[in-house]
Order: sequence, then structure tokens, then C-alpha cells
Amino acid sequence: MLAAIVAFVAMVPPQATAAVASGPADGPAAPESLRCEYLVDPLGIDQTSPRLFWKVVDNRRGATQRAYEIVVADSLELLSQDVGNLWDSGMVASEDSVHVVYAGKPLRSRTEAFWKVRIWDDLGRMSPWSRVARWSMGLLDPADWQAQWIEAVEQELPEGEQQSGARPAAMLRRRFYLTQARQNLRRAVVYVTALGLYELWLNGQRVADRVLAPEWTDYRRRIQYQTHEVHDLLLPGENVVGVILGDGWYAGRIGLAHIVPDGKQRGIYGPRPRLLLQLEIEGADGSRQVVVTDAEWRATADGPIRAADLLDGETYDARRELPGWNRPGFDDSSWQPVRVVTGPAGRLVAQQNEPIRVTQRLAARKVIEPAPGVFIFDFGQNLAGWCRIRLHGPAGTTVTLRHGEVLNGDGTLYTANLRSAAQTDRYILSGQGQEIFEPRFTYHGFRYGEVTGLKYRPELEDVEACVVHSAARQVGRFACSDPLLEKLMQNVLWTQRANLMGVPTDCPQRDERLGWMGDILVFAQTACFNMDLAAFFTKWLADVRDAQTEDGRYPDFAPHPFDPAARFSGAPGWADAGVFVPWCVYTNYADTRLLQEHFESARRWVDFVHRRNPDLLWRADRGNDYGDWLNGDALELDGWPRSGAAIPKDVFATMFFARSSELTARMAGVLARPKEARHYGRLAGEVRAAFEKKYVDADGRIAGNTQTGYALAVHFGLLSEPMQNKAVEHLLSALQAYGGRLSTGFHGTLPLLQALTRAGQVELAYRLVQSRSIPSWGYQIEHGATTTWERWDGYVEGRGFADPRMNSFAHYAFGSVGEWIFRSVIGINPDEADPGWGHIVIWPYPGGGLSWAEGQIDSIRGLVACRWQREAPEGPLTVEVQIPPGTRATVAIPAGEQQKVLEGDRPAEEAEGVRWLRRQADRELYRVVSGHYRFRVVANED
Ligand code: BGC
Repeated sequence: MLAAIVAFVAMVPPQATAAVASGPADGPAAPESLRCEYLVDPLGIDQTSPRLFWKVVDNRRGATQRAYEIVVADSLELLSQDVGNLWDSGMVASEDSVHVVYAGKPLRSRTEAFWKVRIWDDLGRMSPWSRVARWSMGLLDPADWQAQWIEAVEQELPEGEQQSGARPAAMLRRRFYLTQARQNLRRAVVYVTALGLYELWLNGQRVADRVLAPEWTDYRRRIQYQTHEVHDLLLPGENVVGVILGDGWYAGRIGLAHIVPDGKQRGIYGPRPRLLLQLEIEGADGSRQVVVTDAEWRATADGPIRAADLLDGETYDARRELPGWNRPGFDDSSWQPVRVVTGPAGRLVAQQNEPIRVTQRLAARKVIEPAPGVFIFDFGQNLAGWCRIRLHGPAGTTVTLRHGEVLNGDGTLYTANLRSAAQTDRYILSGQGQEIFEPRFTYHGFRYGEVTGLKYRPELEDVEACVVHSAARQVGRFACSDPLLEKLMQNVLWTQRANLMGVPTDCPQRDERLGWMGDILVFAQTACFNMDLAAFFTKWLADVRDAQTEDGRYPDFAPHPFDPAARFSGAPGWADAGVFVPWCVYTNYADTRLLQEHFESARRWVDFVHRRNPDLLWRADRGNDYGDWLNGDALELDGWPRSGAAIPKDVFATMFFARSSELTARMAGVLARPKEARHYGRLAGEVRAAFEKKYVDADGRIAGNTQTGYALAVHFGLLSEPMQNKAVEHLLSALQAYGGRLSTGFHGTLPLLQALTRAGQVELAYRLVQSRSIPSWGYQIEHGATTTWERWDGYVEGRGFADPRMNSFAHYAFGSVGEWIFRSVIGINPDEADPGWGHIVIWPYPGGGLSWAEGQIDSIRGLVACRWQREAPEGPLTVEVQIPPGTRATVAIPAGEQQKVLEGDRPAEEAEGVRWLRRQADRELYRVVSGHYRFRVVANED
């Protein structure tokens, strides 16, 4: 038992354990984790009423913030004297520590804001001030931009380089002289973006560690710019800004472009990349020097990057490096002047989400040589990113790096499932000793990196894998006594990482990599359990709104690089993500501002479906209509039924119509729009009634008689009470019909587990999740999966790989099982009625043969954790719970009639901070205030 407690404390991050040590006499600790618009010290935001967040750190039971004071100043000096010349909130009696809206002086372009906060606790004691945090404002007015868009003038490509379509990456530079002494500088800030991708240098130094900036939006509507402080990089006298431009999503290849009729293969948004940059240098005396993109810049396409494409890879000729090109003193007389071009239609907006970064580097576990001179590095983990290679050899030698997720039986690289995405990098050696290569304008989905062209056998350490994704913070952790479940959650997290590229993508490897809406619809809650995605989804939901058609249809993927009015929009269960995902974000982060921004758009979508389907069954206008994608009918297995798994598409669609109407009504309720709340609430009820009438027979059988049909109906709450129970019976039979196995696709799988759990069939849910027979996650793991597969039968022993035309090994949709693991195995549930973890429902289901399980989520209000332990199936149960300050939880402890519940050493109902609520479904329910609790269920006589 002691080991368990030690382990539990180990789950609690240092800040929380430190608070345990601080006794009441000390007063509350300083607030921590200060954030602005969800981000740590963001630069260049364009939100003029930013929201501030902090965490109260206090493990006392019932610890609550009763008041706060925020001071915001435009200089550190003033702030250190506690002078809030921008805002001093004074002591505000409030428990709010999230979404506290800045209410000081108007924030203008370029304003710098330094802030700190202190709090008073429930005992009236004041905390010390927090550490200083900050944010700065971007360029709020289009007139602030003096910069002009520029592009490199296209150069003739040398013979032999014209075949790939991808272009050499243009290098651009601008020389300028610092007009004042370096020591007089107050601030230097660069505002920058590109149509395409940019890598920014100042005087030979990389500016910021972000990659693939400015990321993907519909550039015709919104272009994100980034803000960097570069004061420390400036030199006295001559300075040089250097930029390399890649084609990226703007001018390079985009997934599926090749199947869009008459579509272009490349250059969907524009033919070649462009740059917009404004460097503002301020002196202490108020003087200003501004360096912008203009006709003075010079460019060349003669640099080392001969081709770079997100899907195909990068070719780098090290013989063509231009040493010193980004530093003063370089002779650029052979470079050409750039062309100044008119700006694109898209609005410039500050980037709202965490940058894409290299977040980790993985060493190779082994190298194999399946054929002479072919070296395959195995990183032991499927991921998105690229390889960094150290090599040497004669000048002009081409070394080729191919990337694949799996190997063929003979140990060679399997690439058929990449379809037309080459994901191949080429490096041509300069011949000057040891060389290091890492691409920058591409990314690959891979576990294996194949190196050919070396004249020697490389060492294991010569290649490492760089893990690349939107660098949102990991907040969820999970561990338990079953290694299979632990591995499953790791695979889910890795799949999520591989598919966060400013956009939640379906896959990172083949020629697709799109923000498919159905996939994130089912995965969004798992994603929020794993990482703090508030900022990420705020950005992406703007992409979703940008892709909504005039008539209200949401796209099937966002951004939508094609014409959403013509194709790929309005599919049931995909387009509906425009309603489901913001609701999920609201539940996790209490973001009413986001709902406010989004509501009109959500309503328009539901109105569209309603308008086209006035009889309330969604039969017309379902776009591409994917249904319960990749359900059991898509499996190719000996002896597996050919049909019976696919829910009829009109049944599926009508369920989503009901659910989206319902969620839209709830949004209206939150936003205090009673008329709309009533309207969509009534609509939801009418669609449910129409659904039941049309598709549910008197015996509760739902048309199609599929697992997914029953699961969704129960999970979405579509049925009246008697029908609901019957549906569960049919669901059990539908499972029986498949020998107790799943036949669900993307949309049915998680609801199936949830419906079973809700219906008291949790052991059955565990059995499905822990199963090792196909179709199951366990089967994938037993066959080497380190990420979740797109298809249940992505690989089958004896049969081999599934059809390579659609067989990704890093798709997160079936990873939605992670939500069930957090909600049911660990028992951590946010409550949409008191969102942002204001009220937490702790409802664990010990089972599945596990002796213990634990998990935690570092929520926006602090750490939520639960750990349970049971030595023997019927033995005493311990449930430890951690609830963050200022929040409440309902804790449901499983206990039989012959058992009693203790907390610490006392009957639970008498323990401090605990109130008995009621007995429900073989559980004792308690309401607890914040703090750490240890419940034990023992026999009555103990
Ligand atoms: C993608 C998906 C997507 C689906 C639409 C596939 O090609 O990879 O995950 O949701 O198309 O049915």
C-alpha cells in the first residue's frame, strides 16, 4: 500500500507537493502557471480584451481563492514597484482564476504588458505576488503594416532539376544599418509571415525555434503572422535579415489535390511563396527604425535547398551552400532584386496557437541492412517529423533518406501506403568533413528511416528522429497494472502528436494529411485529456468557419483548400464537428467567448440540414456521406461477415442531426439566448421523435440492427426510456452476432464502450478494450503498433497489409478509446454543466482484472487526479483523489450493501470536506471540496 501512495505522490507535479508542505500558517502560495489567452507569455497577440489565467496552489481541503488582484504595467520597472499603469484591478472579490478579462487601459498595437497576480484565500490570507508574466500586442490595424509583400523572381532551373515540380527554396536578404548605438536600444520586434513557409535569420542566428511557420490556414481568408523579439541579435553597424522560403501548403502539394477534377497538383493557393516582414527597432529615446520587406531586398534560388515539398521531401545540395549569406559582409551582387507584389485577400491575424516545434529527438534503437548498402534505422516509434543525419563522404555523393511506417517481411521499407507522397529527402555532400543534415520545409510519417548512398556503414548514433508537432502542453498521464492498456494510451498519444500540425490531421504520411472533421469529432475529448488544446482548437475552429459555405455547410475537412461549395462538405458526422468540437472545447476550458464567436456558424449548419430536410429525417444533401467509416464491413478477414456492420447512412445522419441540434440548443443556453435555446431544443426533440418513429420498431430494434446504431442511439440519448433498455439488449445481441467482437467504425466505437458502461456492462467494455483478437487495439499492439491504425485490419497475420490505397498506421480516430480510458478506467470526467473543471465527476470503474490504475489531468484549474487500487477482485478498494483549489467534485465510490466507505480513518461522510450525497447504482456518492482524499471501501465489520 505504501508503494501505491508513493506512486500517487509521484504523479503530483512538484508545485502541488510543495503546497502540501506549506501549512495554513504560511498563507497561500503565490499563484502559478500564469497564462494569457491560454499561452505562456505570448508575443504579438491581437485580442484587445485578453483573458488571463493562473492556478491557485493549495492542497488544503476546501482551499479556495476568495479574491485576487492583478497589476499590469507597460514596463518591468513599474510592475516591480507595484504600479499598474495599464491596469490595477484592485482587490476583486472573486473565485475566478480562469478567463479573467483584462479591463485596463485600451491596448494598442505594440503595447507591452507585464503582469502579476496575488490572491486571498478562504481564510482571508494574502499570497505573495506571482512571478511576472507578460504579453505583447501585435499590429492591430492594417495601417500598421508598412511592409509590402515580396517574392523572388523565378529563375531558370538548371537542366535536370525541372522534373520534380518542387522548386528550389528562395533565399532572401536585406542589409540595413543600425541607426543608433546598440546600448540605446529599447526593443526590437519582428512581425513576419509568408505565403508558404519561412525560416528567419538575423545576423546568422535563427530567430525562434518554430518550424513550418506560419502554418496552414486558408490564405485566401486568414494569414497568421508571428512576432519575435530580436533585440539580442542586433549588431552595431551592418545587420542582415535573411529568410528562406519554402512552398509549404501555399504553393506546394496538398493532399487529395490529385483527385480533385481539374484541380492543380501544386500551387493551390498561389504559384510561389511570398514574404511579409516588418522589423521595428525602438531606441530608449523613442526613436524608431523600421526595416520592411520592400524592393530593396535581394534574392537567389541558387542556394542549397533544390526542392522542398511537405509531402515529397527535401533535396539539399550542400555544395551550393552560401556561407555567410545571412550575415553582414556577404557579397550579394549576383543575387536578383525581388518583386514587390500586391497583397493577398486574406486578413492578417496573430497566430493564436502554440507553434510547431521539434519537441523531442529520438535515438535509433537499431540499424538493419536488408540489402547491401541499404541501412534502415529503427526509432522504435512511429511519429511525424524528420531525420537528422550526420555523415561524410566525397563531394557530390547523393545520400537518400526514405521514410516508412512499417517494414516488409524481408526487412525492406514498406512505402506503398504513402501513395504518391515520396517523403524522401536527398542530401548531396559537400565533401568537407563531417556534415549534418536536417530538412526544414517538409515532414514525414515514419518509424523507419532508410539511408542509401553512403560509402560506409553508418553508426547507430548517426541518425536521430526529430519529433515535430504543434507544441501544446501534455496534460494527461495514465498508468495501470495492465501493460497492454498502458501501451494503448501511449500509442494514442503518439498518434495525436503525429497529427497536430497547426491543424488536426488524419495522417502524417501519405498524400492526404488533411484536417478531416469526422476524425477529430470522435477524438477531440481524448485529445483534450492528453494535451491542453484550448489555443490549438481556437485557431482551428477559425479554419472551420473559414471553410463554411454560404449556405451553411461545414466542410468535411478544414482548412478546405479546394472549393467547399463544390465538394467535400456537408457529410454527416464530419461537418457536425463544427458543432461537437466547440462544445468539447467549452466543456474542457469553459470558453464562452469561443462559443460566442462560433454560435452563429453552428446554427447556420443546423439550419442548413433542417432546410434541406424539413421532414426531420436527414435524407437529402449528405455530401460524400461516409457513414460509420471503416466499420466491420470494411474488414477483409477469413470467416468474417461481409455485411451487417454498416449502419444505414440515413439512420446515422439523422442521429447526428438530432445531436447537433441538441448541442446548438445547449450553446444558446450558455450564451443566454433563450429564443434560440428553445428553438434548437425543440428541433432536437422533434428530430429524435421522427427518428424513433421512422427507424426504431416497437421492439426497440433500430434499422440496420448494427452495433453502431444502438451505440450511437444510447450514447446520444436519442431514445425514450423503455426503448433505451431494449436498445441495450439489441446491442448485446449485435455483439454476440460478431462473436463478442467489435464491428464498429470511426463513429461507433467509442459510443459502444460508453453505452455498454452506462448500461452496467463495464466488464464487457473492458474485454473489448483489452482484447487481442482482431479487430482490436490489442491485436495491433501485438503486431508491433506504436501508433493507432486507420483500419482494424491494417495488417493481418497470414494476409499481410491492407489495401495500400488507404492504410495509414497513424490515424487517431480509433484512438478515441482514450476518452473511455480516462472517463471510465480512471473515472475523471469534466462536467459540461460547470465547465472548465469547475465541477468534476470522479466515477471510476475498477475492473478488467486490473489491480490498480491511475491518471491525472493538469486542467486549466490545476491537477485533477484519481488512483484506485484493489489487491483482489473482491478485496478492499482504495480510491485516492486530487481535486484542484476552487473546484468541487462528485466522487462515486463503488461499495456493496455489506461494505462501508472510509476516508482516511473516519467514516467518509464525517470526513473534512466530504458530504454524503446519495446511494446510486451500487455506489456511495459524495460531494467533496478541493484537496486530496483517500477513500477506502471495507467490509462493514472491519
Ligand atoms: C481519411 C479519413 C477521413 C475519411 C473520410 C480518409 O481518406 O484518412 O480519416 O475521415 O477519408 O471518409
